[in-house]
Amino acid sequence: MDNTIFLSPQNDNGYDITDYYHIDPIYGTMDDLDELISEAHKRNIGLMFDIVFNHTSTTHAWFQRALKGEQKYKDYYFFRKKPTNWESKFGGSAWEYVEELDEYYLHLFDKTQADLNWENPNVREELVKILNFWIDKDIKGFRFDVINLISKDAFVDDNNGVGKKFYTDGKKMNQYLREINQKSFGKYDDIITVGEMSSTTIESCNNYTNPQHHELNMTFNFHHLKVDYENQEKWTTMPFNFQELKNIFNQWQLGMKDGWNALFWNCHDQPRSISRFGNDTKYHDISAKMLATTMHMQRGTPYIYQGEEIGMTNNYFTDIHQYRDVESINYYHILKNQGLSEDKIHEILQAKSRDNARSPMQWNNNGGFSKNTPWIQMNPNHTTINVEDNLNNTNSIFYYYQKLINLRKQYKVISEGNYIPIEKDHPYIYAYKRQYNNEELIIINNFYDVDTSIDINIQDYEILISNYNQHTLNNHLQIRPYESIVLYKHS
Ligand code: GLC
Repeated sequence: MDNTIFLSPQNDNGYDITDYYHIDPIYGTMDDLDELISEAHKRNIGLMFDIVFNHTSTTHAWFQRALKGEQKYKDYYFFRKKPTNWESKFGGSAWEYVEELDEYYLHLFDKTQADLNWENPNVREELVKILNFWIDKDIKGFRFDVINLISKDAFVDDNNGVGKKFYTDGKKMNQYLREINQKSFGKYDDIITVGEMSSTTIESCNNYTNPQHHELNMTFNFHHLKVDYENQEKWTTMPFNFQELKNIFNQWQLGMKDGWNALFWNCHDQPRSISRFGNDTKYHDISAKMLATTMHMQRGTPYIYQGEEIGMTNNYFTDIHQYRDVESINYYHILKNQGLSEDKIHEILQAKSRDNARSPMQWNNNGGFSKNTPWIQMNPNHTTINVEDNLNNTNSIFYYYQKLINLRKQYKVISEGNYIPIEKDHPYIYAYKRQYNNEELIIINNFYDVDTSIDINIQDYEILISNYNQHTLNNHLQIRPYESIVLYKHS
């Protein structure tokens, strides 16, 4: 995971697509892609595409023809004489006025990302055609960007001026997903799909991923990544609410009874987990491994985002000119207009900007990403955090991830076991059990720089993996700062 590679003006890092059938030249050519697909195939690796079907760029030919007044293409989007009071997710109104037409069009994101009208069967047909084109090229999976926003229920003003409830998990979601499933990826049994879900619910995600419904294989949700939002506002700073984080994990792990979770801490839209939930200085490696353990031992399919496996951290930029992300730049201005000081704004951006996860991969202590100047600054800590050093150290974060992945392949209790929360109210520890037939796991993780303990019967258990080396195992278990221990029993 992740990022789109289609032709795009890159106003939103490629999530504004001009042409779904062409690769953006900044990434290479179709021949390069064909070669990548076939070389990956030879190594038994399938490529997944990140695809954006909620909206297109306003540079897409469909939108351009709509602007010329062609009714057929105006019906591909939402043009209205009267806008609603909904807010764009990137700040400001969700409607943009077009003078030539004397109408407004809907854009839930940037004004150059016009929402597609899924009500229109021609739109759905075009999208199915795109999927089948890529499936014919041997693409083996799709991440569907903000896919639960495609069914707009009603165009009416929202009393809180946000609008979310009129377009999130809308009434026709299941019908639309089933339709594209049946007409494209659902015909094959080796294609995987994951839906990126905005502000969704456990109930909706069960519906989208229940195998009997033939919609999607799994869903990403973001509730666990909002526990450091003060009053549910992203552009704030607040230490994460640990109890809330545990509650959300427990609810989703227990709640997805009919469906399947995609598990993740990081993606191109989130600050780096180690800087957010771990300790990116004194306990860098230990806390990176702890976070990896919490996620990889859960029930679901884990996703790793580039750099996570070597513990890449936030960038801590200090100047607005270092940022590239449209959302971060918009909010810089919004917060400035609200009267926040420059220092406070930078503190917020350092904690929340998506650009924290978008700096180039750190290959070696010279950076190693490119001989050219990259589009966004490389994190100066590549001198100490990089792939080469990780490969040369058998105790590295990288090898720890490798071990976690192998364990999941070996143990059914990890890949299929049920989930039982324990120590629900412990102030520092997030712990749970997994069970599968006669196998059992206890997973214990300390999220803080403190020595603590739990009382738990661990007789007959052995250590499967841990981020510390020496252990004294007994029923009054001492836990060190950011320690993770996975205990295994087979009866
Ligand atoms: C998703 C993408 C994000 C993008 C947005 C609009 O959330 O992951 O990067 O800005 O959708 O396409």
